[in-house]
Amino acid sequence: MTTAPSKPSAPGVGAAPQLPPFDHKPAPYTGPSKEEVLAMRREFLTPALITYYKDPVMIVEGKMQYLFDEKGRRYLDMFAGIVTVSVGHCHPKVLEAVRRQNELLQHTTTIYLHPNIAQFGKKLVSTFPKGSGLDKGVCYFTNSGGEANDLAIMMARCKTGAFDVIALRNAYHGMSSFTMGLSAIQSWKQPIPHGFGIHHARLPDRYRGQWGYDDADAGRKYAEDVLDLLRSATPGQVAAFIAEPIQGVGGTIELPPGYLAEVYRIIRAAGGLCISDEVQTGFGRMGDAFWGFESIGGAGVVPDIVTMAKGIGNGAPLGCCVAKPEVAAAMAKRLHFNTYGGNPVSMAQGMATLDVILEEKIQERAREIGAYLQEGLRDLQKRHGIVGDVRGRGLMLGVEIVEDRTSKAPATAKCAAVFERCKDLGVLVGKGGPNGNVLRIKPPMCITRADCEFLCRVLDIAIGEQR
Ligand SMILES: Cc1ncc(COP(=O)(O)O)c(C=O)c1O
Repeated sequence: MTTAPSKPSAPGVGAAPQLPPFDHKPAPYTGPSKEEVLAMRREFLTPALITYYKDPVMIVEGKMQYLFDEKGRRYLDMFAGIVTVSVGHCHPKVLEAVRRQNELLQHTTTIYLHPNIAQFGKKLVSTFPKGSGLDKGVCYFTNSGGEANDLAIMMARCKTGAFDVIALRNAYHGMSSFTMGLSAIQSWKQPIPHGFGIHHARLPDRYRGQWGYDDADAGRKYAEDVLDLLRSATPGQVAAFIAEPIQGVGGTIELPPGYLAEVYRIIRAAGGLCISDEVQTGFGRMGDAFWGFESIGGAGVVPDIVTMAKGIGNGAPLGCCVAKPEVAAAMAKRLHFNTYGGNPVSMAQGMATLDVILEEKIQERAREIGAYLQEGLRDLQKRHGIVGDVRGRGLMLGVEIVEDRTSKAPATAKCAAVFERCKDLGVLVGKGGPNGNVLRIKPPMCITRADCEFLCRVLDIAIGEQR
């Protein structure tokens, strides 16, 4: 795809690009005004909550890849409620499954039998590579990704008898006391004690780090730091290593080829377990594989525990920690329980979402549409000097905005201006990275080529204004 404005399908000079046609009329909105909602939020909700945009957007309806504000204005959703709506807002099959379950039974907990949790567990483990051991894994359903990561660390500590954990700098694994310690981005760290026994290894960032994209051995070289950390900061025995195959909140940083294979080898030699945080990378988003560890790690790289959330439920508050059975068994010596994990309604939503992912070949779609979109973003990179890097896989993409390509100085203000302008022109994207200068593009995976062309035209205008 080229995004050059001279292409036949491009709008006339000065004309705002038009969203692709979409046959859906939002319901008339009759609730409180945006200003009233904002005032109530300020008065009654914690000030820790943030909103995107100088003039926050109020979203009251969603249909597939589009969102509607209270005035009925349509936006292309290129951020999917933070990488969560996997198959489309209010997908009809998901809606129907949830409606049916809501009418029958909403809650009992796992102290009684219910088919949904068992059936979903069976279906979920069938998505792991045959013979990997995870295809015989067991599920602990949670209410969030952070809770799944908490469990994974607890399991690893129970199983190994070791305490130390190695995570990566620039990681985001959640906001509980355990997971805030795993996370390693300053803006997400409250000034309280957290992270006992957690050590952060060097970030294998091929755009800004010592070894770049042109170094075929970069993965192995960055992995050496894990060995160094193990020797200097731990008693030589560790409980676990945890990483996102592509860091999400951290700004779409993709682990280099060979990195996971080498780190897993080092960690296992120290008695530790390997955890893949697939909260953003799972469920086909990578395009070339269902799970991020398969896509980024390559053949033979298999974690002992996989954590997931977000895309698993197309918006349901649902997560899961899948572990090899011998790992999960370590926690069975004591009781462990959560009230809502495995709730029949969230299980129905998760199961219907997975059915749609498989039936509608969402992974293939992420590969095909993602490649098309990446081509368009690379075209923008060729034509705009402030686009420093375009990276990611499938439909998990990042565009890093810099002052210039030589200094690579993070252009935080320019990125913020592009982000605002995109919204004004009808596209909602995400923003992240430690300097807030990476546009995060991770849409519902039902987007079309026409949506990608629209996004690229909008970005072309928004980035072009930042000279
Ligand atoms: C990679 C990753 N892990 C864990 C989490 C935490 O998930 P939750 O917000 O559901 O607790 C997130 C949230 O953004 C995430 O991106």
